[in-house]
Amino acid sequence: MFSRRRFLQTVGALAACRNLRAQSYPFSLGVASGYPSPSGVVLWTRLTGVDPSPVMVKWEVAADDTFKSVVRSGEAIAQPEWAHSVHAEVEGLEPERWYWYRFTAGDARSQTGRTRTAPPTAKVGGRMRFAFASCQQYEQGYFGAYRHILAADPDLIAFLGDYIYESSWGRDLVRSHGTPEPYSLEDYRARHALYRSDPDLQAAHAACPWIFTWDDHEVDNDYADDRPEDGMDRESFLLRRAAAYRAYYEHMPLPARMQPQGPRMEIYGELDWGTLARFHILDCRQYRSWQACPRPKRRGGSNTVDVESCTRLGAPGRTMLGRRQESWLERGLGESRAAWNVIAQTTAMAQFDQKPGPGRRAWTDGWDGYPAARARLLQDLVSKEVQNPVVIGGDVHCFNVSQLKLDFDRPDSPIVASEFVGTSITSQAWSQERMNRYLPDNPHMLLGDSRYRGYVRVDLTPQRWTADLRIMETVQKRDAPCSTLATYVVDDGIPGPVRA
Ligand SMILES: [Fe+2]
Repeated sequence: MFSRRRFLQTVGALAACRNLRAQSYPFSLGVASGYPSPSGVVLWTRLTGVDPSPVMVKWEVAADDTFKSVVRSGEAIAQPEWAHSVHAEVEGLEPERWYWYRFTAGDARSQTGRTRTAPPTAKVGGRMRFAFASCQQYEQGYFGAYRHILAADPDLIAFLGDYIYESSWGRDLVRSHGTPEPYSLEDYRARHALYRSDPDLQAAHAACPWIFTWDDHEVDNDYADDRPEDGMDRESFLLRRAAAYRAYYEHMPLPARMQPQGPRMEIYGELDWGTLARFHILDCRQYRSWQACPRPKRRGGSNTVDVESCTRLGAPGRTMLGRRQESWLERGLGESRAAWNVIAQTTAMAQFDQKPGPGRRAWTDGWDGYPAARARLLQDLVSKEVQNPVVIGGDVHCFNVSQLKLDFDRPDSPIVASEFVGTSITSQAWSQERMNRYLPDNPHMLLGDSRYRGYVRVDLTPQRWTADLRIMETVQKRDAPCSTLATYVVDDGIPGPVRA
């Protein structure tokens, strides 16, 4: 049964390959790699402009950029029902080294990508450099930040959510989505393909491996589990979510284990970089409790509420990660022997009081909307004696550098972890004046800066985490310069960022 089906697929794929010659360049969306292990990596591409039948795609991995020494090769069938995407999980590579890869379909050959493997699992010491980025609204700017990310030759890029935006908004737009908000699979495929047509984004994917999590805009603003911001009924929203997740999978270098099943897709996971770092990559959208106390006349979505007037906010059963992911994280943190435990998640974790003076106002879409879940996570870091926990995030389009505490309202409460929220690649933020009004009520926040677009670059050794907050002069031009706003370090064994 299997072999007959496979045979028919192969015949169809070969037929399609012959037809490829007459079509447009099928690798127009580029190549990408992700999730490096000590022995392998996921390679990705997606064919465009081909007939709706299976296509055989050959992949090759070489030890050099001229492909004189091909070390692994294989074939994959790009299926039309998966938008002719290819997710090749290469194994048998050597640890801790760079490789080059490419794809061939018919007479067409892809551009060459470069990727690397992680260090051996038991390797002690070493160093790594990575960048983390988030929030790239296509209309609000060019993705020139990636040029500067690549200039520093990172081992890895971590993308922390809002890879696409479903909605159009903002001022001083440099380009247009050209289509209305996506709802169907075809809509989301087109939106992803549009973003991936950006040359700087393509170059960044071709230069090194990435890891991912998502936030709301990959589907719909402020959604929580099965509840959208607006009044769409549950069944319709889950169909929309299924379409969005599927298109996301089709466009990212994700392992096959993440392939979605209808509206479910397990994207959380961990990645080890020797014993230097373990990345605990979280999904803060798919399993969370609905936002507490939404705006009047809304069933879902975020709000900014006085904590005294929204009693639901503090309910102990409310979850950000869902029970299953929460126990997975608890186990992963407990078992980790890494020098640094990087909790790669979507939004801002530190408490952020948005009411100057007495009382506290909380934004319900971030971890402030899930205080019991946050307390459980932070308490875990203490009780499991997790080594050097650092939380990285995005979502809020500003840089936040914070001390994470068990009790943010008590200045003498011990610092249990460090937090770095990157700004956005392009997405616009509120004003610095507004930020400045809130900062005095949040003394655990060492820096809150909404003025710039950019990313965070991290250099990591067993002794020290060094984070450069990188800022673009403008995102109105592709080739704008980039500089460092500030550098913060975290030293081994001493929780909390310190300005360098
Ligand atoms: Fe965003």
